[in-house]
Amino acid sequence: MNDLARSSTFTPDQVTPEKLEAFWMPFTSNRQFKALPRLLARAEGMNYYTPDGHEVLDATAGLWCVNAGHCRKPIVEAIAQAAGTLDFAPTFQMGHPMAFELADRLVELAGKPFSHVFFCNSGSEAVDSALKIALAYHRVRGEAQRTRLIGRERGYHGVGFGGISVGGMSANRKMYSASLIPGVDHLPHTWNPKEMAFSRGQPAWGEHLADELERICTLHDPSTIAAVIVEPVAGSAGVLVPPKGYLEKLRAITQKHGILLIFDEVITGFGRLGKPFGWQRFGVTPDLYTTAKGINSGTVPMGAVFAREGLYEAFMQGSTMPVEFTHGYTYSAHPLACAASLATLDLYAEEGLLERVASLEKVWEDALHSLKGAAHVTDIRNIGLMGAIELAPREGAAGARGFETHCKAFFDEGMLVRFTGDILALSPPLIVSEAQIERIAATLRRVLAQVA
Ligand SMILES: Cc1ncc(COP(=O)(O)O)c(C=O)c1O
Repeated sequence: MNDLARSSTFTPDQVTPEKLEAFWMPFTSNRQFKALPRLLARAEGMNYYTPDGHEVLDATAGLWCVNAGHCRKPIVEAIAQAAGTLDFAPTFQMGHPMAFELADRLVELAGKPFSHVFFCNSGSEAVDSALKIALAYHRVRGEAQRTRLIGRERGYHGVGFGGISVGGMSANRKMYSASLIPGVDHLPHTWNPKEMAFSRGQPAWGEHLADELERICTLHDPSTIAAVIVEPVAGSAGVLVPPKGYLEKLRAITQKHGILLIFDEVITGFGRLGKPFGWQRFGVTPDLYTTAKGINSGTVPMGAVFAREGLYEAFMQGSTMPVEFTHGYTYSAHPLACAASLATLDLYAEEGLLERVASLEKVWEDALHSLKGAAHVTDIRNIGLMGAIELAPREGAAGARGFETHCKAFFDEGMLVRFTGDILALSPPLIVSEAQIERIAATLRRVLAQVA
């Protein structure tokens, strides 16, 4: 593509404060960024390149999404071809072949009991779609009293009103506390540093935290609860790995009370945990699960909700309206996103990427845990190809150490790491080599030694 040509219109000497002003950047400290811009101009494979041509190793797969690696030729070509063949087609009362083909491919990848896929354009939309499916499902089956939704502290389910209501990131909820959707309660989060610091994979402690769901059920009467939504591994809150037995218990309790279990697999979907989907790795089958990001390796905005057998059918049999589920987006199953996803699925299959992590996980785990004892490190957590390194906050300046580590890694070492406060989050593309994994750990060790 013409990525070089694009980047050459924004060379380093042109990065003036005026040029950066108009973009109100999402989830960014705009003042901080505009004082210290960190720009990416092009990408290839495992690397980004800055406008002045510096290579940056991508240890975060962009934002947990570029699972196949950057600018992969078959995906790029599929998008280009779709753009020149079918730029847009409505999926309201119309359809286009790629949408149906992709839904079939995804259902096949998921396997039983998943039978239907609802398309949208992001993780946030996938979450709101799944919550609506859950609420409407109970209603079309004559259980309209099931209106409550249960989320979890420190959960991240995107930024729609549904998502922030069931989500548990206080900063994302703070400004809207009076406007969140009603009837939501939260499970406690599962991280306890005293019991689980430096756990490798799933912590042995904490299964009992799922019993809180029984308490919530008793409090509200389980017949009023529509769904429980959790990320199988909480990603954005800093890779909180589920304790052994915890997800199994959530499943047993929801099943017992006729409550739908929704897994938010926006990060864990598409190979991040060594199986196509996280629920397959944990052996715990939800009723619905949300995906986005890796569905087409982050190339074109897309999300998808997977529904198990019986849900779609309930709408077909129980809905009294001609349009059985009055929900959808102009760009649901956009042709470019579908083309990108079909090509991505082919690439995943050809290169075995959806299973590759299973063989890399030990190397990843050892590399990350080799940082135990490095400066400032208070915890290291990992599962699949996800990892977090928690740093002690600097006295009176929470988050400063995380930000400085990110900046030093980027400017001095050419490596992209994500930071949330003082937690560094790592999730490289699934094509990462063992040598690159070692490099990620060695770079972090060096950087941490230099950060005050
Ligand atoms: C688990 C989870 N759900 C939802 C979302 C929101 O996705 P998006 O930013 O595409 O709306 C994210 C994004 O990181 C996520 O990690």
